[in-house]
Amino acid sequence: MTKTLSELTILNVEGLTKRFGGVTAIEKIDFSVLPGKIVSIIGPNGAGKTTLFNCITGLYSPEEGSVYFDEQILLNKLYPFAITAKGVARTFQTIRLFKHMTALENVLVGAHVRTRLGLTDTLFSTRRFRLTERKITAHALRLLDFFGLQAKADTLACNLAYGHQRKLEIARALASAPKVLLLDEPAAGMNPKEKDELLALIRAIRDTGITILLIEHDMKVVMPVSDKVIVIDYGKKIAEGTPREIQNNSRVIEAYLGHGGGYHGHAGSH
Ligand SMILES: Nc1ncnc2c1ncn2[C@@H]1O[C@H](COP(=O)(O)OP(=O)(O)OP(=O)(O)O)[C@@H](O)[C@H]1O
Ligand SMILES: [Mg+2]
Repeated sequence: MTKTLSELTILNVEGLTKRFGGVTAIEKIDFSVLPGKIVSIIGPNGAGKTTLFNCITGLYSPEEGSVYFDEQILLNKLYPFAITAKGVARTFQTIRLFKHMTALENVLVGAHVRTRLGLTDTLFSTRRFRLTERKITAHALRLLDFFGLQAKADTLACNLAYGHQRKLEIARALASAPKVLLLDEPAAGMNPKEKDELLALIRAIRDTGITILLIEHDMKVVMPVSDKVIVIDYGKKIAEGTPREIQNNSRVIEAYLGHGGGYHGHAGSH
């Protein structure tokens, strides 16, 4: 059956299963993502959310199942760098910046996956190399500006405020010019004002056409921003729907209450 244009998915997760010894971290997870949407993944601590991201981005290879990008490209046979080069970028739950590099240098690292320069170009600083360097530096500075970090371009990542480090991680991921951006608890540890700002930035990124997968505990962040919410509990998808549908889903309410109450599983304890 041929699909109409509006049905073409950017990401298709089919029957994804990942085990660690006796622990099944995720089990037969299925979902699809339409381009230009924000899809949130929620679930209690240890539910398997990060494992799902690790399978999609090639850090873990799943025991079963497939991840298709742009309908045809089977991501889970590729190495992480190749997946980034195809257009899938991510941030990590625990900040993973190069601490002793400047903000600008961190973004430049992210951009290099996009350049087509060979060793000769780099060694002999060819004209092509210099032009490309100038272009990616300009682009990196624009990205920093988008996150309100241009004044911090020359600041070492370790000297940035926590909220700025979180934003810099997203800037670095965007530097690889992704079509899909996976954010693993980007708002963890932020105060309400920082969360509001982040929400606006996530929307602005989506408005540029980038599809976003968001792992987030704070329902105040998830509900207003998500086109679709996927709920994982003990490694299984237990619900999928609009924020409103999810909020009223009895299985979801039960899963959260059963795990010690409330939607706020934790606030960035990792
Ligand atoms: N590398 C690993 N080795 C062994 N077990 C792992 C590994 N990664 C994850 N797990 C296990 O898989 C399960 C799911 O973990 P995961 O980190 O994906 O959960 P999560 O939903 O991201 O939780 P949190 O909200 O706390 O971040 C847990 O039982 C965890 O201990
Ligand atoms: Mg996690």
